[in-house]
Amino acid sequence: MRLTVIGTGYLGATHAICMAVMGHEVLGVDVDTSKIEKLASGQVPFFEPGLPELLTKALDSGRLRFTTSFAEAGDFGDVHFICVGTPQQADSEAADLTYVDAAVTMLAPCLRRRALVVGKSTVPVGTAARLAGLLRELAPAGNEAELAWNPEFLREGFAVDDTMRPDRLVLGVTSAWAEERLRDAFEPVLAQGVPVKVTDLQTAELVKVAANSFLATKISYINAMAEICEATGADVHDLAEALAYDDRIGGRFLRPGLGFGGGCLPKDIRAFAHRAEELGVGQAVGFLREIDGINRRRRARTVDLVVEICGGDVAGKRVAALGAAFKPNSDDIRDAPALDVAERLRAAGATVVVYDPAALESARRAHPGLEYSTSALDAARGADVVVLLTEWNEFREIAPSAMAAVVRHRKIVDGRHALDPAGWRAAGWEYRALGRPTVAPLEKEHRR
Ligand code: UDX
Repeated sequence: MRLTVIGTGYLGATHAICMAVMGHEVLGVDVDTSKIEKLASGQVPFFEPGLPELLTKALDSGRLRFTTSFAEAGDFGDVHFICVGTPQQADSEAADLTYVDAAVTMLAPCLRRRALVVGKSTVPVGTAARLAGLLRELAPAGNEAELAWNPEFLREGFAVDDTMRPDRLVLGVTSAWAEERLRDAFEPVLAQGVPVKVTDLQTAELVKVAANSFLATKISYINAMAEICEATGADVHDLAEALAYDDRIGGRFLRPGLGFGGGCLPKDIRAFAHRAEELGVGQAVGFLREIDGINRRRRARTVDLVVEICGGDVAGKRVAALGAAFKPNSDDIRDAPALDVAERLRAAGATVVVYDPAALESARRAHPGLEYSTSALDAARGADVVVLLTEWNEFREIAPSAMAAVVRHRKIVDGRHALDPAGWRAAGWEYRALGRPTVAPLEKEHRR
């Protein structure tokens, strides 16, 4: 089967590479010549564990090629996947559909024979039906050019695994022919027993935003509990662990701390709330605004905690910021809570020295006012306070005594609940984390 993948960003590049490795003939398409040149020469333009090796394998097999020509894509493909971005609009909470519309508008005139166009991008519900009309109108093949929706659930850092072995496949279709084409395209995935849900276009679109909203809700729920813990002296870490033993609740996405960022969860919940309002059912997901609010407050509270541990003022203080990426195993700094906190501390007068294992370059370009170091210990040299903002494993492995030897003051704020408080306190550190008491509960007990 011959597939094209339109859009070679995070989602598209991963999808194109994995589909070629699974045995399909694949043509990756993008309007960005530099991205296409990079990929064609074997370079993945972003950080994703395991993907560079697979790109080499796919290129060597001769089954993966790249182009900037939509005419070539139209001639080549039986199934065309649309994998372009849907960022938040600059002046509104709505999703910006410019790229999705442009992809269909450029591809459709090149579809001269029966073909299936499959949207994978995250879109407001109702977009697929609109695009289906546009496709029929613009394609020389007319009604023979059909639209389907197949939302993508991959996580950065686990993109290869999530594509090769997803939790489920969702196929939004309007004909048995479209379903059959998609089942053929995903045959290697389905052969592993991956569950498949076949449904209509609008349900398929909704599954994605409903899933991301649920995940964001889980994170904000535990962070809301952290606020209660802060007011009562309770420990949100213990609370989350105790909740997780209930299988109905589960422990995943229940990690308290600085909250969610990245290119998906924050903009997806806002676009969903906005779309629901347009549909006249805004009240149904009004809670998503609360979820967003709780999440934003975590960043402000983390700054407050750093100010507090510094004695009420960070002006003139040296802060070591460990982490810049929105999460570990990624170089993505879109809506990164870490850099938001770092910038707020700088605005309050601190000198902030950032270290991140993968996102240093992009952070340096986007935040030139911050200072940068090439190791955690280097960043911590002479620091008045260390703030852990992204939970990379290498930060978990830092010996408290080694860091104690280079800092000015042994004060640490663990924004991600990644460190063992007992170990750091035993090495003489003042350890603080949002939603955790200043001393461990048992120590408190003994003191009474
Ligand atoms: C998310 C969805 O998980 C994925 O299914 C979808 O396709 C795209 O959006 P991603 O943005 O890659 O994926 O990151 P994810 O692993 O979901 O983490 C999002 C944010 O939540 C990160 O900033 C992370 O640090 C934070 N997070 C996650 C928490 O604060 N607590 C948790 O318990 C889990």
